[in-house]
Amino acid sequence: MTAPRLDVFPAADWPERVAAELADRLRERPTARLCLPTGDTPAPVYAALADAAARGAVDLARATVVLLDEYLGLEPSDPARCDARLRRELLDRLPAAPAFHAIAVDDGDPVAAAAAHDAVAAAGLDLTLLGLGANGHVGFNEPGSGPDAATRVVALAETSRELAHVRYGAARTPTGGITLGIARLLASAEIWLLVTGAGKAAVLARTLEGPEGDDCPASFLRRHSRLRVLADEAAATALSGAR
Ligand code: PGA
Repeated sequence: MTAPRLDVFPAADWPERVAAELADRLRERPTARLCLPTGDTPAPVYAALADAAARGAVDLARATVVLLDEYLGLEPSDPARCDARLRRELLDRLPAAPAFHAIAVDDGDPVAAAAAHDAVAAAGLDLTLLGLGANGHVGFNEPGSGPDAATRVVALAETSRELAHVRYGAARTPTGGITLGIARLLASAEIWLLVTGAGKAAVLARTLEGPEGDDCPASFLRRHSRLRVLADEAAATALSGAR
């Protein structure tokens, strides 16, 4: 197993540093197929990336964006919807938007929607960005998810339900979702795990330095030879440095 690359940036310029790295990748490969998450961690990166695009420093027009996960049971207009949030925080702010593959959760057949979205991701992902759940989840691969987990309909962990309602402002508390599975994420050519804040320090240490296990699904990302962790200083404080 190759040790993941770890980049630790000061919190004050973490979003700009990550956005600049992303802009570099897009310059190398303007047609990149990106899997993108939503959440409070990537939001400032998207703001910085949109600012860079407005300055003409990066162009996503020829890229393709594949959404990582989506809630079931929220109205399309719900502010917590992952597709709405990604549009609001990034796609709608770009001078020229990339192709965007949302997850068809409004069509009444979640199993079919998961299969269709998996097929989109299976066409290839050059780079997958992920946030890290305080419970060790990536996407909605909640604890109990193994490395072979497929793209599927899932029940949300209690903490994820609360997060949607209390912090992300969902009108109601969603109980389920659709997520790209860990196996599909591991098939991406490259994975960047974004982690900020002291509240994520323990789970980041668990992810990188604890035993691999389905109590912390993010730990399976270490199987990937091109896993890169982009953390701020607060999130990195519990790492031993002994990796
Ligand atoms: P956050 O969520 O980026 O809003 O902290 C991460 C997650 O729970 O996946």
